[in-house]
Amino acid sequence: MSQPTSSGSGAKPARELFGTKWGFVLAAVGSAVGLGNMWRFSYVAAEGGGAAFVILYIAMVALLGIPLMLCELVVGRKTHLSPIGALRELGGKRWATLGMLFVLVGFLILSYYSVIAGWTLRFAVESALTGFPGEPGAHFTEIASGRGAVMWHLLFMALTISIVMVGVQKGIERAAMILMPTLFLIVLGLAAWATTLPGAGAGYAFYLQPDLGQLLDPGVISQAVAQAFFSLSLGMGAMLTFASYLSKDTDLNQEAVTISFADFLVAFTSGLVVFPVMFALGLQDAVTESTVGALFIALPGAFEAMGGVGRIVGVLFFVALAVGAITSAISLLEVVTSSIIDEFGISRRNAAVGMGILIALFGLLSANSLDILGLVDQFAGELFLAVGALGMSIFVGWFMKDPITELARGASPGFQAVIPTALVLVRYVLPPVIAVVVWFQIVATIEVVRVTFGGG
Ligand code: TRP
Repeated sequence: MSQPTSSGSGAKPARELFGTKWGFVLAAVGSAVGLGNMWRFSYVAAEGGGAAFVILYIAMVALLGIPLMLCELVVGRKTHLSPIGALRELGGKRWATLGMLFVLVGFLILSYYSVIAGWTLRFAVESALTGFPGEPGAHFTEIASGRGAVMWHLLFMALTISIVMVGVQKGIERAAMILMPTLFLIVLGLAAWATTLPGAGAGYAFYLQPDLGQLLDPGVISQAVAQAFFSLSLGMGAMLTFASYLSKDTDLNQEAVTISFADFLVAFTSGLVVFPVMFALGLQDAVTESTVGALFIALPGAFEAMGGVGRIVGVLFFVALAVGAITSAISLLEVVTSSIIDEFGISRRNAAVGMGILIALFGLLSANSLDILGLVDQFAGELFLAVGALGMSIFVGWFMKDPITELARGASPGFQAVIPTALVLVRYVLPPVIAVVVWFQIVATIEVVRVTFGGG
């Protein structure tokens, strides 16, 4: 590992970079692919117009997701700094506040994401050892909070810390190079197997039945936008941080397209697994229950009912989920860790372990109460992400000096030609559209706060 030496003369310490192009792409895809892909996408699509929603979603990724991702990539790669320092260097003290928001959001999201990830890890391990539970509903209530949830949450945090503390190349990059291809293979294999289920046809029909009428509903459009940003890990500096470990000769445009495409493929393919399984077992009612619980109750129930094959397939499914969760958690901890390293000049090991422990401790609240988990998710995972995305688009569109030159560096002629269009989108389309999403989130947050504290 390159040893950063602080010279005190204002020169930047040498920064460790990703070793290979694929290392960066897979780490970024690892951040993007998570619970949002393997569960949230399928039911949002099923409820929002099926195949019509899928097409709307692709359009939103292309028009809004990729330009917003370029905003993060361009700031990270240009400065080779973590969010706070990067925004301070390009925008001055005031914009450094946005970087601080990113660090706070990374801290908060990881604190409860790790609790959910702990459940998936537990399902993967326990179903391999002893099979799926006979009464999935009661089982979920038992594992969702309390002592068991705490233990698996702490275990998951320990795993995440142990990867991040080793470094960019030996930790993050190596983990992504092994874990992401594994995840792709599992998801593809599961989708191939799902075609053989008796409920496959009905499942696909439910998932993809095109309903063009839905596309005119502003709520559905805003859902598609929010899902695109969430799924691509945008709005909290994760992509910015990873891009700060990129060398100057990579084509950011090419990377953004590759990452977004891979993220979409995993999301789409997961739906081709989830719905046939549900319909094979007549669990369609659970599908409309759009809670995290459905993922951890209905599917385990289905795997249990399928006997031996269900057990093998179910273990693979939860292994894939746990893999998706850990590579996302890595990027969340990295945002916090890299900022602490850059701001306070302490070692990576101390920063990752120290902050990881603080996050794990804060996460104990979510591990003991689903209400608190939901509350932190609403604030950090929904509202603050939208605010962060808004800030980022305004910064790059209106305040950053000459983002085009940095975007054009290493870009092929084809991409060079579309960069000005991307900037037009960043300036005039992203801010108003994201402002609407922020507005929806403020309303939703007030509602969640009222329900949580007002008792209904
Ligand atoms: N993209 C992740 C998923 O699909 C979740 C997520 C949202 C995320 N924002 C993030 C992960 C920031 C890491 C960093 O599940």
